[in-house]
Amino acid sequence: MATRKKSKGKGRAKAASRKVVKLKSKAVAAKKANGNGHLPRPSSKGWGQAGKALTGVRILDFTHVQSGPTCTQLLAWLGADVIKVERPGVGDITRGQLVDVKGADSLYFTMLNHNKRSITIDSKHPQGRRVLDELIKICDVLVENFAPGALDRMGLTWEHIHKRNPRMIVASVKGFGPGPYEDCKVYENVAQCAGGSASTTGFREGPPLVTGAQIGDSGTGLHLALGIVSALFQRNRTGRGQKVLAAMQDGVLNLCRVKLRDQQRLKAGPLTEYSQYGESVPFGASVPRAGNDSGGGQPGWILKCKGWESDPDAYIYFITQAPVWGEICDLIGEPTWKTDAEYATPRARLPKLKKIFERIEQWTMTKSKFEVMELCNKVDIPVGPILSMKEIAEEPSLRKTGTVVEVDHPTRGKYLTVGNPIKLSDSISEVKRSPLLGEHTDEILKDVLKLPAKDIAEIKNSGALSAPKKEEKAA
Ligand code: COA
Repeated sequence: MATRKKSKGKGRAKAASRKVVKLKSKAVAAKKANGNGHLPRPSSKGWGQAGKALTGVRILDFTHVQSGPTCTQLLAWLGADVIKVERPGVGDITRGQLVDVKGADSLYFTMLNHNKRSITIDSKHPQGRRVLDELIKICDVLVENFAPGALDRMGLTWEHIHKRNPRMIVASVKGFGPGPYEDCKVYENVAQCAGGSASTTGFREGPPLVTGAQIGDSGTGLHLALGIVSALFQRNRTGRGQKVLAAMQDGVLNLCRVKLRDQQRLKAGPLTEYSQYGESVPFGASVPRAGNDSGGGQPGWILKCKGWESDPDAYIYFITQAPVWGEICDLIGEPTWKTDAEYATPRARLPKLKKIFERIEQWTMTKSKFEVMELCNKVDIPVGPILSMKEIAEEPSLRKTGTVVEVDHPTRGKYLTVGNPIKLSDSISEVKRSPLLGEHTDEILKDVLKLPAKDIAEIKNSGALSAPKKEEKAA
């Protein structure tokens, strides 16, 4: 009997193992059907030695100022060959804005245009158009953030581009998407205001505020970069390019998502996590400005630390996360608040947040922001020291990860920049200095477009690649 049982068990095990094999082979077939079967074998090269994520992608970069250049700089760090087209003699207007070293490209420009090549072309000159048409044929993506209609006025309509290169992706930043404001020119703060950020930033009693983070420009550049990479991925299947649009108003609103959430929650009653609720100030029809209230379900506020009287950044963001309420009470010397029904639960605390934060602040004011950070982190209380730009620039750990990088530049010398904040383990970014105006014009004509010397001379003599002479300008 025992033997029979055993053999039955063996039989079942065999059947089970057959089943696993069958399931596995089905999984492989499904993977193939889904389109992953074409992937090469995993590379045997060392990490970081198998090229970069976007190696082989060539970008025709028509961007200027901040939003577009942020996008193409990211793509360049990820390995794309970015060819920046600039107006002869002038270039990207930021080269000469907020100048700190006379005669050198500004930090505004250098910090947004690393790892790119620069060619000067007058896009409205017939010979300049000829060069551009050749570049369109061999590039994968055209990125631009001109004012609405400017690219069309250059003759570079979608139809024109697509006819020459049906695989080309044409990516644009505009201030607004289609609608009543689509023709408007837009800068950072206009987008912050139109995208819902300004109306929800600042203190209730004060005017709307713009933020220091460039969510309209750099934020939209980031959105555009994701759109471009997605369009490149889709092109692998479809073989054709497409238009990619990132409107600054949309990008800002996307980053203000939690405020549109709160707008809808207003229908269900007051927003209890806003300190306005604790202060018994009634809510109006729109999401109010919430000062330094936390945007999530865990109340937080900015508190003074030791030295605040003379140091404008001696502050810390303190979050009274519910699971560590006991630790907070012990640390600030209010152990009875752990069990006192008036303080013990998050709901009971909501109407008293102001008083609670005032009490916590009495404690934080006895310590430096870094001491508060150390003591709180030991017991898992989430806090954030208010770091000044000076402190960030000097922070060794940010230097170590390449998030803050020192770059050498031939005309301005050494300067600090923010490196690639996106770290890929197999596509390591090196930060290379920004190009001088037209630095790579000859290289691109010769090595990228492979134009014969005779043609290069003809194009150059036509004036399509150089600034008009003073007399011509005056005329
Ligand atoms: N050769 C010849 N002409 C060139 C050129 C080149 N290489 N590069 C640019 N130009 C021309 C354009 O064709 C345009 O001429 P047009 O108006 O006669 O057609 C002109 O330069 C100016 O371009 P424009 O984009 O209008 O610049 P601007 O300085 O007037 O406006 C912005 C700047 C940022 C307000 C505007 O570009 C814009 O709204 N962009 C979209 C939103 C955006 O990205 N804003 C954030 C900027 S950080």
